[in-house]
Amino acid sequence: MSQSFDVIVIGGGPGGYIAAIRAAQLGFKVACIDEWKNAAGGPAPGGTCTNVGCIPSKALLQSSEHFEHARHHFADHGISTGEVTMDVAKMLGRKDAVVKQNNDGILYLFKKNKVTFFHGRGSFAGAADGAYLVKVTGAQNADLSAKQVVVATGSSARQLPAAPFDEVNILSNDGALRVGATPRKLGVIGSGVIGLEMGSVWRRLGAEVTVLEAMPTFLAAADESVAKEALKIFTKQGLKIELGVKIGEISNSQQGVSVSYTNAKGAEVQLDVDKLIVSIGRVPNTQGLNAEAVGLKLDERGAIVVDDECRTNLPGVWAVGDVVRGPMLAHKAEEEGVAVAERIAGQHGHVDFGIIPWVIYTSPEIAWVGRTEQQLKADGVVYKAGQFPFLANGRARALGDTTGFVKILADAKTDEILGVHIIGPMASELIAEAVMAMAFKASAEDIARICHAHPSLSESTREAALAVDKRTLNF
Ligand code: FAD
Ligand code: NAI
Repeated sequence: MSQSFDVIVIGGGPGGYIAAIRAAQLGFKVACIDEWKNAAGGPAPGGTCTNVGCIPSKALLQSSEHFEHARHHFADHGISTGEVTMDVAKMLGRKDAVVKQNNDGILYLFKKNKVTFFHGRGSFAGAADGAYLVKVTGAQNADLSAKQVVVATGSSARQLPAAPFDEVNILSNDGALRVGATPRKLGVIGSGVIGLEMGSVWRRLGAEVTVLEAMPTFLAAADESVAKEALKIFTKQGLKIELGVKIGEISNSQQGVSVSYTNAKGAEVQLDVDKLIVSIGRVPNTQGLNAEAVGLKLDERGAIVVDDECRTNLPGVWAVGDVVRGPMLAHKAEEEGVAVAERIAGQHGHVDFGIIPWVIYTSPEIAWVGRTEQQLKADGVVYKAGQFPFLANGRARALGDTTGFVKILADAKTDEILGVHIIGPMASELIAEAVMAMAFKASAEDIARICHAHPSLSESTREAALAVDKRTLNF
């Protein structure tokens, strides 16, 4: 006999656990199944984001940034520390504790919202009487059924066929977050978000980092002026970034990893490193779901095919987050999870895919929302641009971090904000104002007329808005 629910959510990452909580808030009887195990074999809900993604990477970025500040910037403030050392094991222990707080927080939220949690793998076992049968196997075994199923099984790191992950020398994001000692030489394949964030962590701790990127352009998804500035700054910081390479043979031995590649000029090069991070994108997790049992449609990449509202080809089966199309971001997964729960309840859940912010947590941080200048040109939109450098911002000067700028792109005729691009201190926080402005279809003038606290970094956003109309006050 199966246990019957109104809604079964398969996957307990940001897409799944948030969908489960919202569905329970709306009065449904909800089960959430997640198979992630902590080191002791216990449940560790929160998915990639909590266990080997957003949260642990930000913990290490913070620790390594403190280390860099102590070594290189405290003296500017008159603080002398003597020799500064890093206890990598302690740093990793702190990171693990932060992860556990988040795992436990989600288990608490499930209890609070009366979501029934199952620790194990969920797979489709067929359909009967208008309901889907879902089997749980692993730490817990159970047979469940529900008329509504939300699939939120996430994604995993893509491997290079020539260099399978061993998580000792050839590392996915998982291994990259638990290297026991700072490698002397670190190679990174892929200069995307993970490559830059994890490359920065280990560079700050003293590794010599080389990043090999196949594309001839750096950070192609970002606004060109931001990408150009970022490349200049990261190179100055010591990241060696090679663009337009073609990776050849990779050999892995006890001594380390040797990567042969052809560089942009056509020369054959060999890079010998102690550890190699491969961060070349991620693949959707649909193996093990037994999608065939119910005829759930997948695309050629193995992603679940959904419409704009996360409906699959099966009535009552929905899919959200990294396992479907769109950017692989935790907040995108969460928004889709909320919207699906509300649609199941007959409400009008909505996700505005045009204003999902992107943040890269390097130093300086990079954040943007909306369209880039190159996209506006390609779309034939006539626009105005306003830019303000942090160099001219009093708070940035007091912080001792004046790198970068805020750039606002607005429609030339209507002044509606079409894109905001920031590189600089706390860009991750500053971008929220831009997202809010775009959600309310604000004009650049709207931001220019709002009183911003002084001294604050956010004054740069106001000044960039003033710059759209060529009337900055402080530059
Ligand atoms: P996931 O978080 O992958 O969760 C899916 C869950 O489902 C997992 O727990 C998995 O074990 C479980 N599962 C899979 N199959 C089954 C099954 N059959 N049965 C039961 N359980 C199953 N995004 C940001 O927005 N900001 C960041 O700063 C950020 N940093 C990142 C850093 C790194 C190193 C990485 C790798 C990713 C980062 N991301 C970040 C991306 C973010 O982690 C993902 O977009 C997000 O986790 C996707 O959420 P999800 O719920 O779709 O899937
Ligand atoms: P990515 O898509 O960001 O970058 C992959 C890079 O690898 C690209 O620049 C690509 O051109 C390059 N590449 C692909 N194949 C290659 C090859 N054979 N040789 C050399 N270069 C190659 O993917 P990444 O960094 O793995 O991250 C995956 C996803 O995780 C991101 O797209 C993002 O959605 C998410 N993430 C988000 C973060 C954030 O929001 N701050 C942080 C980390 C990850």
